[in-house]
Amino acid sequence: MQTDSKDPNAHNGGVNAMKPSEQQGAEQAQPRVFIETYGCQMNLADSELMGGILKGKGYTAADDMESADVILINTCAVREKAEERVFGRLSQLLQLKRENPDLVLGVTGCMAEHLKEQIVDRAPYVDLVVGPDAYRRLPSLVEQQLDAGMGAAGIDVKLDKEETYEGLMPSREAGMSGWITVQRGCDKFCTFCIVPFVRGRERGVAPNEILTQARHLAELGYKEVTLLGQTVNSYRHEDTDFADLLEMIVEVDGLERVRFTSPYPIDFTPKLIETMARHEKICKYLHLPVQSGSERILKKMRRGYTRVEYEQLVTDIRAAMPDVAISTDIIVGFPSETEEEYEMTRELIESTRYDFAYLFKYSERSNTYAARKLEDDITEEVKRRRLREVIDLQESISAEIFKSRVGGTYKVMIEGPSKKDPNEWCGRTDDFKTAVFPYREGLFKGDIEKVTVTHCTSHTLLGQLV
Ligand code: 5AD
Repeated sequence: MQTDSKDPNAHNGGVNAMKPSEQQGAEQAQPRVFIETYGCQMNLADSELMGGILKGKGYTAADDMESADVILINTCAVREKAEERVFGRLSQLLQLKRENPDLVLGVTGCMAEHLKEQIVDRAPYVDLVVGPDAYRRLPSLVEQQLDAGMGAAGIDVKLDKEETYEGLMPSREAGMSGWITVQRGCDKFCTFCIVPFVRGRERGVAPNEILTQARHLAELGYKEVTLLGQTVNSYRHEDTDFADLLEMIVEVDGLERVRFTSPYPIDFTPKLIETMARHEKICKYLHLPVQSGSERILKKMRRGYTRVEYEQLVTDIRAAMPDVAISTDIIVGFPSETEEEYEMTRELIESTRYDFAYLFKYSERSNTYAARKLEDDITEEVKRRRLREVIDLQESISAEIFKSRVGGTYKVMIEGPSKKDPNEWCGRTDDFKTAVFPYREGLFKGDIEKVTVTHCTSHTLLGQLV
C-alpha cells in the first residue's frame, strides 16, 4: 500500500506532537506530556491543539515516552487496521505503566470516540478516553487521573456541534509548513465512512480565527500553510465560502504557499477553480477522492456525484490549470462490488492518470449505513487481490508521470536533510512531489529553490540545484 502522512496506518514516528522547543517559563515540577499521533493531517493538527491547551495550563513537553508523566495516543478510526495498530501500541506501553504506575496513559481522537469504554474493557490500564470535541477539558481530565492514582478511567466523548476551539493557540515549533483546521466534522454521511459518527456535524471556524492562526504561522517563520477539513471546500462561515477564505489567506505576508485538503468533488465550484488558477501562491495540487469508477457503487456509497460528473470536474480543473497534479482515494471490495465494477475503477485510474493514489480495501465500520444494511460480502482474498492490482497499476502510472519530469526545472521548498542520506536534502515541488538533491552551503529550511530533475523513482524526483 502506498503510504504517507494521510495513511491512518502511518504515525509520527515517536515525535512528541507537544513541541519541546515551545516550553517557555515552564516550571520544573509540572507534569511532562508526550503525544503520539496516528492518522490524517487533521489528527496532527489536533495533537498540536492538545499540546497548546496543556501548555496553557503549565504542562511541559516530555523528551521521550520514558520520561513522560502523561502519554496521549491520538488515534484514527477510519479502518479497523488503524484501530488494531493502536491496541498493539497500547500493549507495548503497558511495560512503561509497570515501570511507572503513576503514568497516565490516554487515548484521544476518533478511536476514543468510536470505541469509548470498550477501549478500557480491552486495555484496562488505559486511564483516559477523550473524544475530538472534549479537548478543552483535557487538562482537568489529566489532572483528575494524576491525582486519582489507580482510580477509574476518565471518559469524555461528548460531541459538541458548536466546538471549533476558537481562541486557542496550538503548540507549534519553528518550521516551514503548518496546518490550520478550518472546518471540523462532516455532514456527508458516505455509507462506508465513520467520520460523521466520530467527529460530529460539520462546522466552519470563523475566518478571523483562521487569519489569526495564519499570521501566527507567518510570524514563526512558516512559509507554507495547509488548510484542513474533512470536506474542506464545503467550508462556510456566515457569508464566507471556501474561495473567499483562500482569497484572505493568500494576502497574509510571509506565507508563500497555500494548500488545502481534502476537497469534496460535489462542492468544487467554478469560483474555486478560478480562484485557485488566479493565485500563484495556491499550490497546483489537489487530492480529489473518487472512491470508485462504477456508477452503481458510487450510488451505493452515496457520494452524491456520478463518475461522468467527476470526470467532467477533472477536465474543468485541468483546463484551468494545465500543470495541476491530482491524487485520489479509492476503496476496492465495497459490498457487492462485482469484477466488472472493479474493472471500471481500474479503467478510471488509467484514464485519469493520477499523480498518486491512496488505495484501500473496504473495512466495515460500525454505525455506518453500509455496516447496518449491506453485507460485507467480498472475500478477504478478492479484496487483497484487487488492492494489489490497483497498487501495481497506479505505481506504473506514477512512474511514467515522474519520468516525464526528468529534464525539467521546478521550484522546490526545502524541508531539510533527506531521511536516507544527510548529505542529500529534500523538499516539495508546488505540485507536491518529493525532490531530493545534494546539499549546498547556505540552504535553509523553507527556502524555495530551483531544482533540475536528472532522474527519478516512482515517488521521488532526483536532481541538482540550479
Ligand atoms: N473502508 C476502507 N477505506 C475507507 N476510507 C474511509 N472509510 C473507509 C472504509 N470503511 C478511505 C476513503 C477515504 C480515506 C480517508 O479512507 O478512501 O477517502
